[in-house]
Amino acid sequence: MIKKVTIIGSGVMGRGIAQSFAVGGFPVKVNDIKETFLEAAEKSIDQNLALLVHSGELRDDEKRDAKGRIAYTADLKDAIRNADLIIEAIPEVLEMKWALYKDLEQYKKPGAVVSSNTSTFPISKLTEQTAFNGDFLITHFFNPAHLVPLVEIVKQDETKQEIVDDVVGLLKRIGKSPVVLKKEVNGFIANRLQTALMREAFSLVGQGVADAEDIDTAITAGPGFRWAFVGPTRIADLGGLDTWKRVFDNIAPDLDKSDGAPEIINRLVQANKLGVKTGEGLFKYGKHEIQTVINQRDDYFVKLGRIKKVNEF
Ligand SMILES: NC(=O)c1ccc[n+]([C@@H]2O[C@H](COP(=O)([O-])OP(=O)(O)OC[C@H]3O[C@@H](n4cnc5c(N)ncnc54)[C@H](O)[C@@H]3O)[C@@H](O)[C@H]2O)c1
Repeated sequence: MIKKVTIIGSGVMGRGIAQSFAVGGFPVKVNDIKETFLEAAEKSIDQNLALLVHSGELRDDEKRDAKGRIAYTADLKDAIRNADLIIEAIPEVLEMKWALYKDLEQYKKPGAVVSSNTSTFPISKLTEQTAFNGDFLITHFFNPAHLVPLVEIVKQDETKQEIVDDVVGLLKRIGKSPVVLKKEVNGFIANRLQTALMREAFSLVGQGVADAEDIDTAITAGPGFRWAFVGPTRIADLGGLDTWKRVFDNIAPDLDKSDGAPEIINRLVQANKLGVKTGEGLFKYGKHEIQTVINQRDDYFVKLGRIKKVNEF
């Protein structure tokens, strides 16, 4: 039974994951390599909790309780000593993850489950040096992790079925929507689907068919509007598979099939136009606009999350 959770790495993902468990009622320890990183994470969690209060999602006392459930420590041994589940959310650098896993294996309590938030490494690669006796799996959260429900779970032959069941149950209890992959595949499910769509989106911009803003509207007001509740396979059933056969046969030959990053992305990255990080990407962002754009996004996600909670298909 998982009761205590530790998150290693308090960056973009770790802080959101920690917040999800704390709001869900679980005591959480957050670990990072420097106190200053932990202070930044605490501040960000505080702001995100305040946004949930502002939008009516949490009461003030619930915010206070959630805050009180999170302890921050730069001492790894202290962070993991009593943890039943340790979620690794450190940078996507294999050697860093391997080095951490050696410490975890040495200091975690027997039977504690370890999971990685990796977005790209196969589970077999992650466990090449430290197998964790079957107590290891991937739990892939989505950004912003405190708001997006999906968590993809990847197991391997060695992973004990009871820990998969335990983690799935735990994630459901904190309001997440876990999906367990039946087998390992590069990019898991959601990023494969998303990348397929993004490749075509950037290709259409590159061909001059539409500008970035219109591409976004074509998705958010069209397929994206439907997908929040009705997924693509159900959409196909509802539309008629004979119709979808014609759609595929007529359009698929024309779709972009390039096997690397789109030309536009390569060009923008080369020019250090990385999006909100540098103030310009596909769009330009004024100095004070960035936080507004992020708050607006989070506000939309909170509202959508509320509708989804009561209306699951
Ligand atoms: N950013 C995303 O959108 C996203 C989405 C899904 C999955 N992921 C995955 O989640 C993981 C974390 O990504 P992120 O974007 O949060 O990274 P990040 O760089 O924002 O945060 C990583 C944190 O880990 C800390 N860290 C580094 N080594 C550590 C160690 N040995 N012990 C404790 N803390 C350590 C760093 O100081 C940093 O605060 C990666 O595997 C990434 O691929 C990221």
